[in-house]
Amino acid sequence: MKRRLNKKGKALVLSLSLVILISSIFIVKGLTKKEEDHILESTDTYDLKIDYPNIDNKKIMNKINEYIDYQKENFLNVVKDTKDLEQPKYDFNLSVTENNYNNVTYIYMLTFSYTGGAHYTRDDASIYYDNKSNEFIDITHFFKDEESFKKISSIVYYYVLDLKDKNFDELWVKQGTEATIDNYKHFKFTDEGLKILFPPYQVASWADGEISIVIPYEEINDLLKEEYRGTSKETEVINIVPETRDLSKFQNKKLIAFTFDDGPSESNTNYLLDNLDKYDAKVTFFVLGSRVENNKETIRRAYLEGNDIGSHTYNHRNLNLLSDSALMEELKKANDAIKDAIGKTPTLLRPPYGNLTDHGKELANMNIVLWNVDPLDWKYKDKNRVANEIIEHAHDGAIVLVHDIYKSSVEGALLAMEELQQQGYAFVTITEMAKLRGITLDTETSYFSMK
Ligand code: NI
Repeated sequence: MKRRLNKKGKALVLSLSLVILISSIFIVKGLTKKEEDHILESTDTYDLKIDYPNIDNKKIMNKINEYIDYQKENFLNVVKDTKDLEQPKYDFNLSVTENNYNNVTYIYMLTFSYTGGAHYTRDDASIYYDNKSNEFIDITHFFKDEESFKKISSIVYYYVLDLKDKNFDELWVKQGTEATIDNYKHFKFTDEGLKILFPPYQVASWADGEISIVIPYEEINDLLKEEYRGTSKETEVINIVPETRDLSKFQNKKLIAFTFDDGPSESNTNYLLDNLDKYDAKVTFFVLGSRVENNKETIRRAYLEGNDIGSHTYNHRNLNLLSDSALMEELKKANDAIKDAIGKTPTLLRPPYGNLTDHGKELANMNIVLWNVDPLDWKYKDKNRVANEIIEHAHDGAIVLVHDIYKSSVEGALLAMEELQQQGYAFVTITEMAKLRGITLDTETSYFSMK
């Protein structure tokens, strides 16, 4: 028997289909979202952090996900049953960086995991994709022939041995640079030439760390296929003069320093920058060196507009677990990447998880900035909650920790600024706050706030 819908029924059907329509829009949006998915899982026994890239290529994404799943599963298998944790906490850190050059997509994935013992383990993986043939390739793809690969490998051999301040074992270098695909798993062509990375232990001892070299095109053009030849450009010297502002207007104001960690993120950091003027706000970014190279324009803009740029290290590792040389490498690589982007070496350092021993501080020789307001934005990913937490704990001299890789965090911080501005607060960078408070930052103190 057919039953006709009455008015109420029709309205119900209509609103139901509207709900379905709207939710399907959200689902589609969710699937095509461009923002990187930055997973941070934190339990009592471990921290897990993965930088997902966003690449519009299913074949590449499948390979990346395969790698991530494999690494993650290995780590969780080891740590999941641990109940009584002996310090320190276990740690998993996976970053993926993407570069495009000359129709080739370069993916480099680096995993650091700590599952007890004295050291981290490290795993390097790379993927190369030719966007013309739509195929995965390896280093041999770029050379004229097999003979060329051999010639290049002997050039590489001498470049490695020539590295200053190193005293390498020739045989070790010879084996590690021989013309095999396995020896050349991590490379990329750049404006400067062919850049090759050797993970620790490939051409030298673990203690020597990773070794990287750049061979200018002039040395190898004859050996490359025509379309990959180039002219090596000198690294450009960046000279950015950032905006400064008159601080006297803040003299008698309550001050808050908002600090944004783990970025930059092209969409979220720029969204934040687009909105800071409304609140006459400047903020501080503690960026990851590994993310700087692909977000140079964003970090330049942030710096140019008068915000502080500090280091959050290169790969977000727990510095307390690193040897002196590995710790220095984490800091130096980040400082170099930042200098390369903005023309200035940072002086501010926020160690990941706030971890840095006194000995580490001595090695770092930077100004250590921690925080005293933490809305746990990465955990709840809820802009209203972020805003409320900040507003509730706000006080003069506070240093607020949020993460500009999450849209909800950026929106929450802006909402908090809106309210706190009404309450008479001004928003300044760490450098500005120190100046206004007459504090000369030293390298021994960890700054949680500046009253
Ligand atoms: Ni962080």
